[in-house]
Amino acid sequence: MTLLDTIDRDEAGTPGDDGLRDLIFARYRQSVQAGNAEVNAVLETILAHRSVRDYLPAPLPPGTLETIVAAAQSAPTSSNLQAWSVVAVEDPARRARLSAVSGNQRQILQAPLFLVWLADLSRLRAVAGGLGKTSDGLDYIETFLLSVIDATLAAQNAVVALESLGLGSCYIGGIRNQPQAVAAELGLPAEAIAVFGLTVGYPDPARPADIKPRLSQEVVLHRETYGESRPAAPLGLYDTILRGFQAEQKLPAIDWTEQASARIGTSEALKGRHALTETIRALGFALK
Ligand SMILES: Cc1cc2nc3c(=O)[nH]c(=O)nc-3n(C[C@H](O)[C@H](O)[C@H](O)COP(=O)(O)O)c2cc1C
Repeated sequence: MTLLDTIDRDEAGTPGDDGLRDLIFARYRQSVQAGNAEVNAVLETILAHRSVRDYLPAPLPPGTLETIVAAAQSAPTSSNLQAWSVVAVEDPARRARLSAVSGNQRQILQAPLFLVWLADLSRLRAVAGGLGKTSDGLDYIETFLLSVIDATLAAQNAVVALESLGLGSCYIGGIRNQPQAVAAELGLPAEAIAVFGLTVGYPDPARPADIKPRLSQEVVLHRETYGESRPAAPLGLYDTILRGFQAEQKLPAIDWTEQASARIGTSEALKGRHALTETIRALGFALK
């Protein structure tokens, strides 16, 4: 039983009057002063997000990949440049090799589909070249960043879409551990790099993931200006709330403040990604 199971629903399964407040409560495990808008399917899908790391072997119905990609391509994109691509990998042997270079993450083997999202400037380089024009603007870190932003917005649209279809997913930042190996495996052109992977499949109901609480809004939401130093109290409260989630999910007990500090504590904790600037250049990006 999860917090969401306690939400009042009508016969059609739509949350009742307090539905939005309940959904938001489930995200924070604290009350948040929210407006009194009615819940709709989009809000319900977004607020109920959770990463899924246990999948059924069932494949996706035909056409699902194309639906997901249409949702991804519906995301805004800087100057309509559409500077991203995605590689859909189903072949178990290829998924196994990609898992091996992404920190041996089991969910890549288990999920029937692995989407590799690319920051991709190769197409724009070719477009300009085809017109006999220069493309010097691609050489700057600004344009690299633009392509990463484009890929990220597209992928998150895909996540919302696939969750609305009853599918689950998990981003895989581990794909950046060895970008050159990934580029070789996927046959990427110069100026294309995998920025994250995404496992996709039907969640295993025997090992359900729950909604992971987030930092309280008073920690992340600033009004007008960023303001003075942030209060320590909400972080202590978040440690406690997250400990509760960890206990329910049978995850190792660790304060968020400890976990976050360990993740950023040393270059070794970046698992090879500390050398990313050189690697990105080696893949053809100038990064001026
Ligand atoms: C860019 C990105 C990379 C991630 N990489 C991994 C990963 O390699 N392995 C993993 O298990 N989860 C990964 N995650 C999932 C996060 O751990 C997860 O989103 C976070 O803990 C919050 O949990 P939730 O998504 O269930 O709300 C990644 C998430 C993002 C956004």
